[in-house]
Amino acid sequence: MNKIIFDENNRIFKLDTPGSSYMIKIADEEGFLLHMYYGKRLNSTITDDLCRLEQSPFIPSKNERERASFMDCAPFEYPCHGLGDYRDDAFSVLNKAGHTATSFSYRSHKIYSGKHALKGLPATFGTEDECETLEITGADEANGLEITLFYSVFYDTDAIVKSVRIENTGNADIKLTKVLSSCVDFYGDEYDTVFLHGSWARERIIDRKPLGYGKHYVSSLRGESSHQEHPFIGLLAKNADEDNGEVYGFNFVYSGNFIAQAEKSQFDSVRVLMGINPVDFCWNLKPGEEFYAPEVICVYSDKGIGGMTRSFHDLYRRHLIRSKYKDRKRPILINNWEATYFNFDTEKLISIAKRASALGIEMLVMDDGWFGHRNDDSSSLGDWYVNEEKLPGGLKYLVDEVNKLGLKFGIWMEPEMISPDSDLYRAHPDWAIQIPGRTPVRSRAQLVLDLSRDEVVEYVYGRISAVLKSANIEYLKWDMNRQLTDIGSFGLAPEAQGELFHRYVLGVYALQDRLTKDFPDLLLENCSGGGARFDPGMLYYSPQIWTSDDQDPVERMKIQQGTALIYPLSTMGAHVCDCPNHTTGRTTPFETRGYVALAGTFGYELDVTRIPETDQALIPYQIKMYHRFNDLVRTGDYYRIASFLENHEWDAWEVVSPDKSEALLTVINVSARVNMKARPIKLKGLDPEKMYTVTFVDIKAEPGKEQTLTLPGDALMYAGINPRIDNAGDFRGRLIYLRSENV
Ligand code: DGJ
Repeated sequence: MNKIIFDENNRIFKLDTPGSSYMIKIADEEGFLLHMYYGKRLNSTITDDLCRLEQSPFIPSKNERERASFMDCAPFEYPCHGLGDYRDDAFSVLNKAGHTATSFSYRSHKIYSGKHALKGLPATFGTEDECETLEITGADEANGLEITLFYSVFYDTDAIVKSVRIENTGNADIKLTKVLSSCVDFYGDEYDTVFLHGSWARERIIDRKPLGYGKHYVSSLRGESSHQEHPFIGLLAKNADEDNGEVYGFNFVYSGNFIAQAEKSQFDSVRVLMGINPVDFCWNLKPGEEFYAPEVICVYSDKGIGGMTRSFHDLYRRHLIRSKYKDRKRPILINNWEATYFNFDTEKLISIAKRASALGIEMLVMDDGWFGHRNDDSSSLGDWYVNEEKLPGGLKYLVDEVNKLGLKFGIWMEPEMISPDSDLYRAHPDWAIQIPGRTPVRSRAQLVLDLSRDEVVEYVYGRISAVLKSANIEYLKWDMNRQLTDIGSFGLAPEAQGELFHRYVLGVYALQDRLTKDFPDLLLENCSGGGARFDPGMLYYSPQIWTSDDQDPVERMKIQQGTALIYPLSTMGAHVCDCPNHTTGRTTPFETRGYVALAGTFGYELDVTRIPETDQALIPYQIKMYHRFNDLVRTGDYYRIASFLENHEWDAWEVVSPDKSEALLTVINVSARVNMKARPIKLKGLDPEKMYTVTFVDIKAEPGKEQTLTLPGDALMYAGINPRIDNAGDFRGRLIYLRSENV
């Protein structure tokens, strides 16, 4: 059955996902493209006057006198600049004559099975049996531009993916000063917005608030998606909660500067815009050239925030992440960063590897400090040659020794950076992003390589591949530890400096694309000073991303809740840390640290030779726990049960297998209270008709020795169960595993 139709009589496009519809109308003789509807799935196209087209003064061709009234309230599908729509627009230019106005008139369209790729950009994918695409082409004749709006619907998820291509079909050069990827206008309801705000070690904290009049936006001008704000916006009906109500989510498949904005107009309509941040963006388009704006994912849910979350998770697991590891258990790694920082050598790493191997850990990752003369963060980025003083015999010797212990080996690199104190900088100072005549701003003592230049990208790739080929390296942690400033490139002409931010991101994508094609077996984990580049763009290249440098389980619960609002648990890099925790100074039980890390990729980041014997003794049990539950965590449907961020006392989340035969509930009592009120936990997503064996997991118990109960799915969901948490102390956690035999 077609998911996209064109109703010729009413000139309406209708795009359907399993649970939502999206409608666009070609209106009036001028070919305005108007947004008619986005919401719960409809059975037919409507011809209603939602756009107020039939009433004077809203028919532009019939009432030139009041054209502005139409322009300023019509729900434009791709709003243009400077011709009477005073709400924010999606598209503006600077043409040869110095004018900035733009327009869009419908010209043609096509509908086809499958989905196009985006040149040089990460994008969702699907076969002809999995998705369908609509391309609507319009023209801005005065500027000599052709604009194509792309829409793809997936048959298995409530997601619509949008992007834009602009082609210069005229004879003159033109500058694109703003090319957003998506606009959706909503009519007159009261909404809340959800943004994900943060900071270093506090990324993606959920922030819900009522939407008032005017423009409300989050953005980045940091050259990456950033710790501080996130390329996501949620628009929620006032009554929407975790399980009920209408929720819209928009997420940008891009890793650089962005804007995500909701604007409530004088008429109470709401315009949601998303795309590349127009500030410091200016793209030169010569005749015949094209510009591709990245994808925006739009998700609709009438099952509350949780419904939106599960659609994003499904879409990303099925149609965005390409790595072969996305459907596999990842090796349990131990990373030496918080164990040693820069202070390590071969002997130290091997001592960690020996102990780790004895406990069942599967991979050693050597973090920052193995190259050049880097003994702190003041030097050597760019000099990707092993420091033989620290690692005598080089990488090959170390990796072979680690492999002999039965462990895989992984390495850290920060390929996009250059230290002023490096041989690379001494040879090529012009390879750093900087403005002639200004001393460039240093951050963590380093500068950023100019990845808009092909020769720089080529050099960086050469070094990465040489390192990876020099030994049996099976994992790469790709870090990026500073944001961009001093936007100036020695490789770009003066008129092209406004392209640098975007060209930089394209350079990162080109590198990771080549890397993942040349090293298909490599497990890539992206990272940026913790989780500053945890976005769908990076997920296209790496199946996991380091979530945050804050590994304290209490802080992590909030960070992981915000991250999991959009991103699958399988993508969240999460480790059991040392205590007192290095960022918060908090001490928490080793078990609880394990339960929280289990909600992500799971690994360790501590000196396993020095932590207490009792903690070491728990590791083999935690490893068994990981192997027992990771398939479910990675592939299951995620439900949020309670939020410590909201209630300040406890947290609980659940994953349920798609066939509802299994579930895992994690409960963390953050602060113990005496005489606690009864807190039955009502599970979600189970089959009310099924009987479940409920196991109160004891990771140390012999098989068959854990406490169990048998309860029906409806009782578990509607009456709830007592989690039986030991209340003697803060930060106590509990795993509860449910299994139904009558599948
Ligand atoms: C920031 C990362 O988030 C850390 O895990 C670590 O790799 C450091 N960089 C190393 O410099």
